[in-house]
Amino acid sequence: MLARRLCFAFALVACGSPPLPHEPAEAPHALAEAPPARDPCEPVDGKPPAPVTGNYSGVLKGARCQPEVLAIMNGVAKALGTGCDHCHDEMDYAAPSENKRIANWMASELLPRLSKRAGGGITCADCHADDGKGKAKILGAPRSRTRAVEWMTASLVERFDAAAGGPLYCKTCHVGQLGTPAFQAHVILTEHLPPRPPASPGAIPHADGG
Ligand code: HEC
Ligand code: HEC
Ligand code: HEC
Repeated sequence: MLARRLCFAFALVACGSPPLPHEPAEAPHALAEAPPARDPCEPVDGKPPAPVTGNYSGVLKGARCQPEVLAIMNGVAKALGTGCDHCHDEMDYAAPSENKRIANWMASELLPRLSKRAGGGITCADCHADDGKGKAKILGAPRSRTRAVEWMTASLVERFDAAAGGPLYCKTCHVGQLGTPAFQAHVILTEHLPPRPPASPGAIPHADGG
């Protein structure tokens, strides 16, 4: 639960959960009585937190201190409904893996090119959820074409736009229309994506997005 509160505090792209989805809305005093969201990077007993030890450019890009590294990782695991071993050799967290590569691609290539119609920052949980539970294989395991088309239509192009402006078109990511020879099934780890939005002039790097 701590991880969820941390995610709430930072609204990080990499955070696993949307802000407080299960908070009882009908209890107006509940929020006031809950302990305030704690910043994982705030000093404990006057001691500053351990600094980030790695040089991260993907899911952990926004981590400001080592405790936050773990908070973000807990959020990611929860958002995908997996254990740490889905992406890591638990004897060596720094070792590369295919799912780590994909996770970093999602965070640094896919998410920045999309914007949510409902507004707010995009989290892994915005797509990796099924009935409110975290799910890695949202297109079915094994993947089903019918389910993929349904998901792409109802959960992707109707909920997201291109961050650079305009709606998402199937062929932006799949090169051709479904049902034509030009359609390419493979998108993950490719560059078939909407363009990056132009950097906004006064943007503060690593701003938490409020
Ligand atoms: C969906 C894949 C995924 C899951 C699940 C996941 N991680 Fe990670 N983890 C990553 C990626 C990707 C990085 C590197 C991030 C970057 O480069 O920005 C990383 C980095 C780390 C690091 C830093 C390693 C280093 O190079 O210094 C630690 C520690 C870590 N994860 C712990 C965990 C723990 C503990 C869990 C389970 C609670 C977990 N991770 C779950 C993908 C994942
Ligand atoms: C805009 C939608 C969207 C968002 C947001 C998103 N993903 Fe994905 N992701 C997908 C789709 C679609 C797949 C393919 C799923 C399948 O094969 O069933 C996928 C697959 C993956 C996979 C490989 C499948 C597996 O077995 O694990 C990983 C790892 C992953 N995403 C990590 C992440 C992480 C980490 C985040 C947050 C930084 C994230 N994703 C955010 C759409 C998204
Ligand atoms: C923002 C990019 C994006 C857009 C727009 C998009 N998709 Fe996808 N689609 C993905 C990703 C990512 C996957 C997972 C592909 C992979 O594993 O490489 C995927 C997978 C699929 C698959 C499964 C392919 C297979 O056989 O494995 C189908 C079918 C599909 N999409 C149809 C559509 C349709 C139809 C639309 C338009 C309504 C659409 N997509 C729009 C990103 C996108």
